[in-house]
Amino acid sequence: MYLLLRLVMFRLDAERAHHLTLKVASLMLRIPGMAWLWACLWPTVRDPWDGLGLHWPNRVGLAAGFDKDARYLTVWKAMGFGSVEVGTLTPRPQPGNLQPRLFRLVKDKALINRLGFNNGGVVAAASRLKQRPSGLVVGANIGKNKDTPNEEALWDYLVAFEQLHPWVDYFTINLSSPNTPDLRELQEAKFIDSLLQHIHDLPCQQALARPVCIKLAPDMEPKQWQALWPVLSKHRISGLVLTNTTVDRAGLRTSTEELERLGNGGLSGAPLMDKSLAMLEAMRHYGHAQGFLPELVSVGGIMNGKDAARRMQGGASWVQVYTGLVYRGPILVSEVATAIRAGYCSKA
Ligand SMILES: Cc1cc2nc3c(=O)[nH]c(=O)nc-3n(C[C@H](O)[C@H](O)[C@H](O)COP(=O)(O)O)c2cc1C
Repeated sequence: MYLLLRLVMFRLDAERAHHLTLKVASLMLRIPGMAWLWACLWPTVRDPWDGLGLHWPNRVGLAAGFDKDARYLTVWKAMGFGSVEVGTLTPRPQPGNLQPRLFRLVKDKALINRLGFNNGGVVAAASRLKQRPSGLVVGANIGKNKDTPNEEALWDYLVAFEQLHPWVDYFTINLSSPNTPDLRELQEAKFIDSLLQHIHDLPCQQALARPVCIKLAPDMEPKQWQALWPVLSKHRISGLVLTNTTVDRAGLRTSTEELERLGNGGLSGAPLMDKSLAMLEAMRHYGHAQGFLPELVSVGGIMNGKDAARRMQGGASWVQVYTGLVYRGPILVSEVATAIRAGYCSKA
């Protein structure tokens, strides 16, 4: 069924198709009996996990960027996701980059996007999150506004954190989008140290400590991320989300001319698989050796259940999907959750 829908949707501009599909899905769910039908088609796989002080229905999450403004939480729950990371949300609303800014690389089962944190801001998202459904872990992925210079970025993260703190279960600090100029420069120890200290000192965080994760780029050199470890360990960071999209274009089937025509942006999907897995495994080994290992969240190129099971063997606590959902449809969620659960059963 999804293949048919995909045939139609892939004829439309990718960003238009994205919004249209989500709107239709959310309208469908309002039809009496539809939630029941979805539950039959895509049954929620129960594989409960207690981690970060939270109860997770299963270990499959929707990656950041799919539902930036927290508009479709009931859809994700009905599809069987155990968690959703909304955002990236910035303090003030912003339109993002000029369109077109999202492209499919069908031959590579990949996407290129340069959306640039288009979102309605934290206040609007908070008002929606107040009415979030139960039984779904919801994280907020936060970023800085495009027109905020890096020297003032810290305050953007703090504003976003405070505004969303009452309404979400965990936070992910996004320092790794390639589509906000110079954002990746903030992936350095001094900035992260200062940011984590300020977050720790916030009255809301003192009253109720929310887990804090950091999302990193797959394009970092080992030296770069190893330099972060003393700071991550000092602040007992809850998790690392590995990884964001890549700016690397090596090994793609799509022609160089076509890639040049599409222009800049972050590449996601199947071509990211090896990089994302390599970073997960390298960080697990390094963390063990250093005596501090946060939860590792694996995202990047998970296109089927086998890919996901491999990430769990590589040390992931949970996985997230984005591009795989575009290419495979909702069936991917139960397939991934089932593979993860089976992996655990066979290990036991
Ligand atoms: C269209 C699009 C928009 C995205 N927006 C965000 C975002 O706002 N914040 C973020 O942290 N990651 C964002 N991402 C990155 C994804 O969360 C994920 O890390 C990346 O796509 C790799 O996973 P995948 O290969 O399963 O797509 C976006 C990805 C895509 C394709």
